[in-house]
Amino acid sequence: MNHAMEAATVLEVQGVTHYYSSGLVRSRRAVPALNSINLQVYDGETLGLVGESGSGKTTLARILVGLIRPSQGKVLLNGRAILGRTTRREKRLRRRLCQIVFQNPHSSLNPYLSIETSMSEALASAGVPRSQRQAEAVRLLASVGLDKDVMSRRPAAFSGGQKQRIVLARALAVSPRVLILDEPTASLDLSVQAGILNLLLDLRRQYGLTYVVISHDLDVVGYMSDRIGVLRRGRLIECAEAERFLAGPERPYSRELLGL
Ligand SMILES: Nc1ncnc2c1ncn2[C@@H]1O[C@H](COP(=O)(O)OP(=O)(O)O)[C@@H](O)[C@H]1O
Ligand SMILES: [Mg+2]
Repeated sequence: MNHAMEAATVLEVQGVTHYYSSGLVRSRRAVPALNSINLQVYDGETLGLVGESGSGKTTLARILVGLIRPSQGKVLLNGRAILGRTTRREKRLRRRLCQIVFQNPHSSLNPYLSIETSMSEALASAGVPRSQRQAEAVRLLASVGLDKDVMSRRPAAFSGGQKQRIVLARALAVSPRVLILDEPTASLDLSVQAGILNLLLDLRRQYGLTYVVISHDLDVVGYMSDRIGVLRRGRLIECAEAERFLAGPERPYSRELLGL
């Protein structure tokens, strides 16, 4: 399906530029981590963003969920600016619409909390009544392929792939519409990467999610995406329907990435 043609925009990036140094110490030659990014994410699609290390992928991911405020430009979630609004209600609303999953599941989970406690906290933040949290946690864990036995254990008991499943279940606890996946399989053994990618495809279908999948690995992005964008040195140099992109991208750099 061509999502770009028919679906509503859920996430929109308008003229985003980001410098890590503060305005006062920024030198004239300072290179922005992101430079004039314009981007739309359509309801129900998977937008893949590919780029080499240091191209600005994680910076953009963090800006998309409001963890970093860009030096210039703005991000709209469901047509509303997500930055500049700092009330707790706005933050909660944003978290419920858009969740981020990072590369390293080890650092995403609190090592001292049982999986049940982590899940309960997430469900509580989504307003799920206490009496329903346990059953809901079991249901979410089942949807990522984990048995209810995992509830009583702590993160150290699990492999990287299992931890990433737990992180996904927790992200889904708030019933988000959009998941930002920053190198979701990069820290995992090759043998478990495909399992996670296929799980992500299942979850997308099951929950009607919209994804932004970010990776240095064109195979990952090519496998998952309806549209593909290329980041290079902080600029989005190309963004096209996946099929068209994979058949023959416009920019020489993209062709190089594809080995053409
Ligand atoms: N916290 C930070 N402070 C200063 N510079 C940073 C910080 N995080 C990233 N950078 C720089 O910003 C650029 C983009 O980084 P990043 O967004 O992490 O790229 P990617 O995820 O594509 O590897 C790089 O040059 C990186 O060194
Ligand atoms: Mg990164």
